Amino acid sequence: MILPNLKEAKQRTNKEVVIKTNEYHVDEELKSLGVNKKYFLKTYGCQMNEHDSENIKAILEEMSFTETDVMEDADFILLNTCAIRENAHNKVFGMVGRMKHLRETKPNLITGICGCMAQEETIVEEIMQKYKWLDIVFGTHNIHRLPQIIKEKLEKQKQEIEVFSIEGDIVENIPVKRDSKYKAWINIMYGCDKFCTYCIVPYTRGKQRSRTPEFILNEVRELIEDGYQEITLLGQNVNAYGKDLKIDYNMANLLEDVAKTGIARIRFVTSHPWDFTDEMIEIIKKYDNIMPYIHLPLQSGSDRILKLMGRRYTKESYLKLYKKLKEALPYSSITTDIIVGFPGETEDDFKETLEVVKECEYDSAFTFIFSPRIGTPAAKMEDHVSLEEKEKRLYELNELVNKYAKKANDKYLEKVVPVLIEGVSEKNPTMMMGYTDTMKLVNVKNAADFVGKIVNVKITDVKTWSLDGELVID
Ligand code: SAH
Ligand code: SF4
Ligand code: F3S
Repeated sequence: MILPNLKEAKQRTNKEVVIKTNEYHVDEELKSLGVNKKYFLKTYGCQMNEHDSENIKAILEEMSFTETDVMEDADFILLNTCAIRENAHNKVFGMVGRMKHLRETKPNLITGICGCMAQEETIVEEIMQKYKWLDIVFGTHNIHRLPQIIKEKLEKQKQEIEVFSIEGDIVENIPVKRDSKYKAWINIMYGCDKFCTYCIVPYTRGKQRSRTPEFILNEVRELIEDGYQEITLLGQNVNAYGKDLKIDYNMANLLEDVAKTGIARIRFVTSHPWDFTDEMIEIIKKYDNIMPYIHLPLQSGSDRILKLMGRRYTKESYLKLYKKLKEALPYSSITTDIIVGFPGETEDDFKETLEVVKECEYDSAFTFIFSPRIGTPAAKMEDHVSLEEKEKRLYELNELVNKYAKKANDKYLEKVVPVLIEGVSEKNPTMMMGYTDTMKLVNVKNAADFVGKIVNVKITDVKTWSLDGELVID
């Protein structure tokens, strides 16, 4: 049993990152463990977790498990969890309740929890006390060890917990089963060293470790060969890519090299305003296959709150960067993340956030009420604002965000835009869906024959969160 340790998770030393190319393996005897057995995997949280789940699926399939999307049919149920806010926790424990019921009727069912919540000391303590029947718990640094963890559980017949709290190395040989045949996530870096005072990620994901350009570019080339049209370069703050590498190579260099591979569409998330360089802007402008879409989290418009958050920029420097981006890339769409109700946020601080939203007129924004995370500095800050007041602020902010989202979408009416058709629309099964270069969701008529292709679409109707359109045949 290896339990998480917050103090160790927080540590950052000069220990060199080791790239491990042989670390993952499945013992011969485990390759048939999943024969005639099904797994159900549910994923919470960010794209990084989605991509981790693609790794977990491939590992389970190398053990001969097959996937099911019906939890009741599964022999192995695994929840890949997120720790970013309290409500994520509540959702997971709701599911755990359902798993317990199933286990009562299916004694051989294996149940498990992994991901960022497994990295939290208090969560694992809770599991050990109240959920003794949960079979396996493993952390974000332990994914490649899944076959051994399952084996341990089956051999010892007791709860198996393995959560490393380390700064982290890079394991390069984990297999992947991608959810899409057209779009792919590529990790370009792991972890985060920014330590924004409200955020749990630097504790759950370890220190910033950039993958080498060779591994990334090889992955891109393989995806091109497999017919992929779009890749998203993933990291908690991708602009800081390369700073921890021994070579002189940065995000602008990587974007340029990826663009030169010729893949049709390149996206990247998330950009921290702090590290966004002019060189990057030049490269985005220069290459048509780098999509004109930037997610640029603001968090707050008040300098006082930004300082308390440890965000390392001011309202003025954020707005300067925003304007520079819009001048260089006028067609681009820009989205953001905002937290309301950070400890000590006054009405005036909140008004400043609204001011920035009015100035930037974002294409869309993810908005959150501050959620204290145990172990982070902000969780200990004094907070006098009531939940009712925070909810009122969130509502007011959302009204404004929605207004500008609609305004941004209105500009698309009657325009012809490129859309990568992905599949049947969830809202209307007679239509197909896909995204524009600027990341707008479009429901498209008569496009069933064009799945996996980038086609021109004329926008015929505009809503706040999506567009409707029809195929343009040239
Ligand atoms: N690395 C990204 C953010 C990843 S987390 C960045 O720096 O921009 C995604 C979003 O969740 C954050 O941008 C923030 O708005 C929100 N978030 C993170 N911790 C939070 C907390 N404790 N309470 C509320 N929202 C939080
Ligand atoms: Fe969290 Fe800040 Fe790192 Fe983003 S940059 S993951 S908000 S600590
Ligand atoms: Fe959540 Fe972990 Fe991502 S906390 S947002 S799943 S890095």
